[in-house]
Amino acid sequence: MSSFNQTPKMPQRPRPICAIGAGGIMRHAHLPAYDLAEFPVVSVFDVNPESAESLALDFGIKTVSESVGHMVDQFGTDVVYDLATPASHVSAILRVLPDQASVLIQKPMGEDLAQADEILEVCREKQLRAAVNFQLRTAPYSLAARDIIAQGLIGDVLEIEAKVCVHTPWEIWDFLELAPRMEIVYHSIHYLDLIRSLIGDPVNVKANTIKHPLSPNLHSSRSAIILEYNNNLRALVNTYHGHKWGTQEQESYIKIEGTKGAIKFQMGLNMNYPDGLEDWLIWTNDEQSDWQKVPLTGSWFPHAFIGTMAGVQPLSKSATTALARPSTRKSRSLSRRGSEPVRPEKGARSATLWRPLSSHKNLPGGRRASRSRPSAAEDQSTPERGQHRA
Ligand SMILES: NC(=O)c1ccc[n+]([C@@H]2O[C@H](COP(=O)([O-])OP(=O)(O)OC[C@H]3O[C@@H](n4cnc5c(N)ncnc54)[C@H](O)[C@@H]3O)[C@@H](O)[C@H]2O)c1
Repeated sequence: MSSFNQTPKMPQRPRPICAIGAGGIMRHAHLPAYDLAEFPVVSVFDVNPESAESLALDFGIKTVSESVGHMVDQFGTDVVYDLATPASHVSAILRVLPDQASVLIQKPMGEDLAQADEILEVCREKQLRAAVNFQLRTAPYSLAARDIIAQGLIGDVLEIEAKVCVHTPWEIWDFLELAPRMEIVYHSIHYLDLIRSLIGDPVNVKANTIKHPLSPNLHSSRSAIILEYNNNLRALVNTYHGHKWGTQEQESYIKIEGTKGAIKFQMGLNMNYPDGLEDWLIWTNDEQSDWQKVPLTGSWFPHAFIGTMAGVQPLSKSATTALARPSTRKSRSLSRRGSEPVRPEKGARSATLWRPLSSHKNLPGGRRASRSRPSAAEDQSTPERGQHRA
C-alpha cells in the first residue's frame, strides 16, 4: 500500500508565540496543536482577563499580558502574534503590533470587503509578515489528498466537490449575529481556500448564500458556490447547517474526481458537532480493483493548526533573539509564500499522536501564569468584548 504525506513543512527552530484572544478556538485547536508540535507559547492576552488567566494556567503559559501594547513592549518582533478574535477586531489589533511583525490571523479576513481591505492596508503599511489561518489545507486528509494528486494517481483533476449537510450550533458564537455576512466568510471559506490551494484560482465564481429558519438572526447559514475553471475543471461547495435529524444522513466530505481515479475524505469534525464523527480518506483509480483506505495520522482539530503556524514560523524576521535559538534559515517574504499552494515536504517531522481535546483542559505541568506589569502605552485601540465596528 502506498503511503502519503500528511505532515506539513515544519520549522527547525520554532519562534515563540504570543496568543491574542483566549476563546474557544485558541483553547481547543491552536494551543493543543502547538503543544503537539512543541511550539512555545510565551504570552496570552484577552479583553476578558479571566479567559486569558484560565488559558495560561491550563497550558502553562508564563505571562498574561494586560494589553496588546504591553505584549508588544515585552516581546517586540521576536515572536509570532497569533490572533484568534472576532474578525471585526483584527485591524485595530494589527495597528498596535510593531512594524514587520510576524502575524497569523484567524479567518475570516474581515467580515466584509471593507474590513478585508482595511486589514490588507494595515499589513502593507506596517510591512507585517501576515498570513490568514486557513488551516484546512494542512489537515492530514488534505495533505494526503494533495500527495495522491501530486503522485499522478488520479490523473488530471476534473472536479472537486465540498458537501456539508450537518447541524451546526451557531448560537455558540454570539458575535456571529452581528456579522454582516456569515456562512461563506466564517465557514465555506475553508473549502474555497482548500480548493484554491489544490487547483488555483477560478476564472469565474457563482454563489448563492441564504438564511435558514433555525438561525433567523444570522445573515446566512447555507451556501451554494460554483467555481469555474478553464480546461474541463470545476469545483462545487454546497453547505447546509440546519440538518437536525440525527447523524445518519449528515454529510461532510470533499470528493476529488480525476481522469484516472478519485479521492474522497470525510471531515468528521463538522458532524454531530461538537463531539464529531470519524474522519476517513479513501481513493481509487483505474489500476485498483477497489477503494483503498488511507490511515490518517490526525484530524482537522487540532492537527491542521500545526501547519498554518509552521507556515508563518520560517518567515520570522530576526535570526537571533533572547527567546529563540539562532536560525540559519533564510527569511522569505510572507506575502509571497501566503499566495502559494502549500507544498508538503516528504520526510518532514510527523506530528505526535492525537489526544482528545478534553484531555487538554488540565494539562499537567501547567505553571501559574504571572500577570505582567501594566504598560505605559496601554492599547487604547483594542475594542471591548462584544464591540463590533461593522
Ligand atoms: N477552523 C477555524 O479556523 C476556526 C474555528 C472556530 C473559530 N474560528 C475563528 O476564530 C475567531 C474566534 O473564534 P472563537 O470560537 O474562539 O470565539 P470565542 O468567542 O470563543 O473567543 C473569542 C475571544 O476573543 C476575545 N476577544 C474579543 N476581542 C478581543 C480583542 N480585541 N483582543 C483580544 N481578545 C479579544 C474574546 O474575549 C474571546 O475570549 C473567529 O474569528 C472565528 O471565525 C476559526
